[in-house]
Amino acid sequence: MNETLQQALEWRYAAKKFDSSKKISEKDWKTLEASLVLSPSSYGLQPWKFLVVQNPQLRQQLKDVSWGQTQVTDCSHYVVLVYKTKMDEAHVQKYMDRMAQVRNIPVSNLDGFKKVIIGDVVTGPRSGVIEWWAQRQTYIAMGFLMETAALLKIDTCPMEGLDPKAYDKILNLEGTGWATVAAVAVGYRHAEDVLQNAKKVRFETKDVVQFL
Ligand SMILES: Cc1cc2nc3c(=O)[nH]c(=O)nc-3n(C[C@H](O)[C@H](O)[C@H](O)COP(=O)(O)O)c2cc1C
Repeated sequence: MNETLQQALEWRYAAKKFDSSKKISEKDWKTLEASLVLSPSSYGLQPWKFLVVQNPQLRQQLKDVSWGQTQVTDCSHYVVLVYKTKMDEAHVQKYMDRMAQVRNIPVSNLDGFKKVIIGDVVTGPRSGVIEWWAQRQTYIAMGFLMETAALLKIDTCPMEGLDPKAYDKILNLEGTGWATVAAVAVGYRHAEDVLQNAKKVRFETKDVVQFL
């Protein structure tokens, strides 16, 4: 297992050029989807959505506002990471209802937990930085997706080189309470992508991992 993980970590790179003829199988996609859905988030609030943009016209429009990066149009699945711009009581209630349903408990058992969450992210100190908070949760899902893909020998490119406001317009997110933060192109590397053979540039482990 350790070797498998080490190999996957080294095999993964941010693919610059995807082979547009190769598509992810339904079975693999279901696992990738699970990596997004099962990602952890603060309180478990899941302030995210994952928009899988498969429509070629939409992809072209998104590419135009993503520095022209070809990953947008050439990858198998293009996942736009969207976050909730404001945390409200309705979202917290939805989460409580879901927890009561999944765990088969009365929702009133969760009143204390609900109060704590609301006192923090809805009305408390974190409500002032909620967009920042929600974006950070979303990046955890990005990491889970990339690592899961690498273990399946599926390539990814995390993408921040895009205009989030333009994405919101194209994807009809304006005024919905949801906004774009980043994206991940998922698929298979092109044989001609020279970067796949480039050595990884990382600071020395001792400089970034410190035991205290
Ligand atoms: C949040 C984030 C955003 C990134 N945005 C882009 C991007 O828009 N286009 C791109 O080609 N690479 C992008 N990258 C890839 C990085 O440049 C790359 O991960 C880094 O240089 C390390 O190389 P490696 O991932 O190949 O090991 C992004 C990476 C991260 C984590």
